[in-house]
Amino acid sequence: MELELESIKKPVILSGVTPSGILTIGHLAGAITNWVKLQEEFECFFMIADLHAITVRQNPAELRKRTLETAAMFIAIGINPEISTLFIQSHLPEHSQLTWVLNSIAGVGECNRMTQFKDKSKQHSENVNVALFDYPVLMAADILLYQSDLVPVGEDQKQHLELTRNLAQRFNHHYSDTFKIPEPYIPKLGARIMSLQEPDKKMSKSDPNQSATIFLTDSDNEIKNKIKRAVTDSGSEIKFSNDKPGISNLITLMHLATNKRISEIENMYVDKGYGVFKTDVADAVANYLRPIRERYLELINNKQELIDILTKGEENARRIAAKTLRKVYKKVGFVQF
Ligand code: TYM
Repeated sequence: MELELESIKKPVILSGVTPSGILTIGHLAGAITNWVKLQEEFECFFMIADLHAITVRQNPAELRKRTLETAAMFIAIGINPEISTLFIQSHLPEHSQLTWVLNSIAGVGECNRMTQFKDKSKQHSENVNVALFDYPVLMAADILLYQSDLVPVGEDQKQHLELTRNLAQRFNHHYSDTFKIPEPYIPKLGARIMSLQEPDKKMSKSDPNQSATIFLTDSDNEIKNKIKRAVTDSGSEIKFSNDKPGISNLITLMHLATNKRISEIENMYVDKGYGVFKTDVADAVANYLRPIRERYLELINNKQELIDILTKGEENARRIAAKTLRKVYKKVGFVQF
């Protein structure tokens, strides 16, 4: 009977977002649209990664607020709490506990090679703390605790996924088979939405230039103005190519908003010029984000519903996380009564 149940279990997904700012269209394109698509087929755990957030300085009241806002945004985008588990990372001490064990097999050299650590150390040179250095190990713990099969993320997390796989393999090798080896799941298009002002740079929630980023809470007018003012490339052709990062980024946004293929979008704008194209992208993106924003505004005003969802999520997550941690503690030689 148990074997039968085991064999019909769905494969597992875990992913998360750090609540260090308002979510952007980059989060949607790179990760959350895939979460929504995959949630029927997989057993899904979606996490608000507040432990990750404090690796850079946060205002505590803001962090509290953003954590609930992020949960509301997940649901507004289409995460269904009836079938997926939504939880707050810090509610499960197992994440920190497994991090400590993984720290004992993670090399200082390999953590030093993480490009995000290098970038963030430059960005926050006044506060290069140990947690920032350890961030990828915490991320590995997040993923491995749930025995995840697949981790849907944007391109910028790929290196962290490789580290996770290495740590899992190393642990399994030292202590015998314990962790599933997870696979990254990165979209072909939209894995890296670029800044509207500097299209060679990733769009980021913490960009000091607000017109570079489309936030999911932006009004129709804000969205349209930002897209109309987006930096484009020389020439006038609407073509997806490496030497046209600005236009390629807008084509990607058009694809996200309308589900049209790249070639279809290119064909629609032969000889039309940048002006017409930008106006159409602006309208399409505004229309796409409007219902998400409206649903979000309803949800954020109903705190109790969010708290109930996150409390249920915490309980669900704990069943799996605690089981993995017990197994790990036993394997490394901690006494258990
Ligand atoms: P975070 O919060 O920076 O981003 C959340 C997800 O959104 C993707 N993303 C983007 N995709 C395309 N274009 C962009 N401009 C863009 N900006 C962000 C990211 O790739 C990511 O998938 N450390 C993670 C959160 C995390 C996590 C985890 C993820 C913690 N533990 C375990 C997966 C599994 C982070 O800070 O993502």
